Amino acid sequence: MSKKLADLRVKYGIKELEEQSCPESPMVLFEQWMNEAIECISFDANAMAISTVDYQNRPSSRMVLLKEIKDGHFIFFTHYDGKKGLQIEKNSHVALLFWWKELERQVRIEGIAHKISKSESEEYFHSRPRGSQIGALASHQSQATTKNALIENYGKLEEKFKNTAIIPLSDNWGGYAIEPQLIEFWQGRPNRMHDRVEYLLEDSIWTRRRLAP
Ligand SMILES: Cc1cc2nc3c(=O)[nH]c(=O)nc-3n(C[C@H](O)[C@H](O)[C@H](O)COP(=O)(O)O)c2cc1C
Repeated sequence: MSKKLADLRVKYGIKELEEQSCPESPMVLFEQWMNEAIECISFDANAMAISTVDYQNRPSSRMVLLKEIKDGHFIFFTHYDGKKGLQIEKNSHVALLFWWKELERQVRIEGIAHKISKSESEEYFHSRPRGSQIGALASHQSQATTKNALIENYGKLEEKFKNTAIIPLSDNWGGYAIEPQLIEFWQGRPNRMHDRVEYLLEDSIWTRRRLAP
């Protein structure tokens, strides 16, 4: 390594988050922060880590893309029978994490994952480029494979659907809507005195409080 990890250090402080000026609903603040991230980050501003747990509560994280915010839920798309899908099936509690370093901002979300309807998944699936649709069908997510097997599967499906206008969506791919129960906004500040505002949903009402950094 060219530099010692312990010596890597940045100074935060380009923005501030005042608890008193936060809106009642964290969704309003989230959309505001998401819009600012889209404005200032050219690459995958909607990328988020999602953590799930297995049947022994061992956690597992990976990146996915937030594709919609609907009725207060965060929606992403994946295979239902890959590692994360099978873990969600057993335990629907998940955590989401956004890190927008250009804005010195982190958002943590904890909540429950619900499968969205097949028709909603189809609507998104068919909005994707044709190659991405075939790619999703060609892959058995999280299973051991070879590069050649993947290329072969893709080729077979491309051939199969060459005269088909609308590629049918299989039952093992679709969206999850994450219903948030906790949302925390973190804004980097000088001297590690970061701003943290946590919203908690209790009896359908969001309450908020400042947390120590
Ligand atoms: C920036 C980024 C975005 C990604 N977006 C998605 C996504 O929206 N859906 C998805 O299934 N996988 C996505 N992936 C791949 C996942 O991180 C992961 O490799 C895949 O979903 C398999 O995870 P699993 O084995 O835990 O189910 C993305 C990866 C990266 C790096």
